[in-house]
Amino acid sequence: MTIDVKDLTLNVAGRAKIEWADRNMPVLAAIRKRFAAEKPLKDTRISACLHVTSETANLVRTLMEGGAEVALCASNPLSTQDDVAASLVSDFGASVFAVKGEDKDLYYEHIRAALEIKPHITMDDGADLVSELHTRRKDLIPGVIGGTEETTTGVTRLRSLETNRVLAYPIIAVNDANTKHLFDNRYGTGQSTIDGILRCTNILLAGLSFVVCGYGWCGRGVAMRAKGLGANVIVTEVDPLRALEAVMDGYRVMPIAEAAVLGDVFVTLTGDVNVISTEHFQAMKDGAIVANSGHFNVELNLTGLEKMSTSKRKLRDMVVEYTLDGGKKICVLGDGRLINLAAGEGHPAVVMDMSFANQSLCVEFLVKNAGKLDKKVYPVPSDIDERIAKLKLDAMGIRIDTLTEEQRKYLSSWELGTA
Ligand code: ADE
Repeated sequence: MTIDVKDLTLNVAGRAKIEWADRNMPVLAAIRKRFAAEKPLKDTRISACLHVTSETANLVRTLMEGGAEVALCASNPLSTQDDVAASLVSDFGASVFAVKGEDKDLYYEHIRAALEIKPHITMDDGADLVSELHTRRKDLIPGVIGGTEETTTGVTRLRSLETNRVLAYPIIAVNDANTKHLFDNRYGTGQSTIDGILRCTNILLAGLSFVVCGYGWCGRGVAMRAKGLGANVIVTEVDPLRALEAVMDGYRVMPIAEAAVLGDVFVTLTGDVNVISTEHFQAMKDGAIVANSGHFNVELNLTGLEKMSTSKRKLRDMVVEYTLDGGKKICVLGDGRLINLAAGEGHPAVVMDMSFANQSLCVEFLVKNAGKLDKKVYPVPSDIDERIAKLKLDAMGIRIDTLTEEQRKYLSSWELGTA
């Protein structure tokens, strides 16, 4: 297949959305302008597996302006914006393989289609593309220069590939850049997760008990925003340090078995499996609402819930009500897939600007350093991270101080102590 999108005639709405997002992506726009002049990605083929959103479209435009050929597939069956996909094909000439609501078979078929371009660079969000390449398409590996990874879950999978000595080419962990996770994961997931939940349920959070499972950067963001809307936030964790931080940030911390009884709304953001399982569903209040905002749809044991249920029905878009033996109801949002993209539009462009500036500059770095890097997971070069922070501040019109010569000297001396 050469492309696969829902309906090419949706492109007009898609293009408007892409332009709207672009207004809040000044750093990426500046990179795009330079790429257009310098063509640093000339003749580079990129297979990208990302959420197909208006923000991603602006990343794809940037890579293409730099001279790259891009084949894009979805990194989640429910996160595609079909109008944006149409516009990327019709207005910008990208190859896109993504349809919102695609089943698992089509999802993987689309990944395989995006790989047909025979990539020099892979760009992944969750490592499904890399996994496909390392298993069923090993023949393509000799042509790959390197890759980038967008998300925490993907970086965890890549580190596992590296530890097991299977990683076949260098990959940059974009997620771990400061200008990525401190903003995208915290403020982006924080706001967009609440947005997704509210869009599909229209509930009032004030006064509810809101359980956040996982206190990584994403969990912190969600807890902070839920608290801001007046919810009583409970955090569950497995990591003692994170649990302690949650306590001192003012939340109640307890095991999920105890939180299950208290919560009105539950959100998982752990990157792990069966965080909310059958015994927890069994303990929940009648009418409890359960969602996931972690990368994969494995954090809620929905197979178990299905087995415990006597019936289920769709109540609203993205809301399915399960009735348990005995009559208790549990509402699951967005099929347990990441709710910010399933029911919302993902993170706002303001934060994706920095995430995708990292992606663009890391691809340029990989192309410049082709053949010089090891088969390792690399951090984003610190000069790229710092440059993006400066560009973002500039774009926001915010100025900061610089060290005086005296202050610089003071910081680099060990002789000067108590005055
Ligand atoms: N991940 C989270 N939000 C996103 C967005 N708006 N675009 C692409 N990837 C995302």
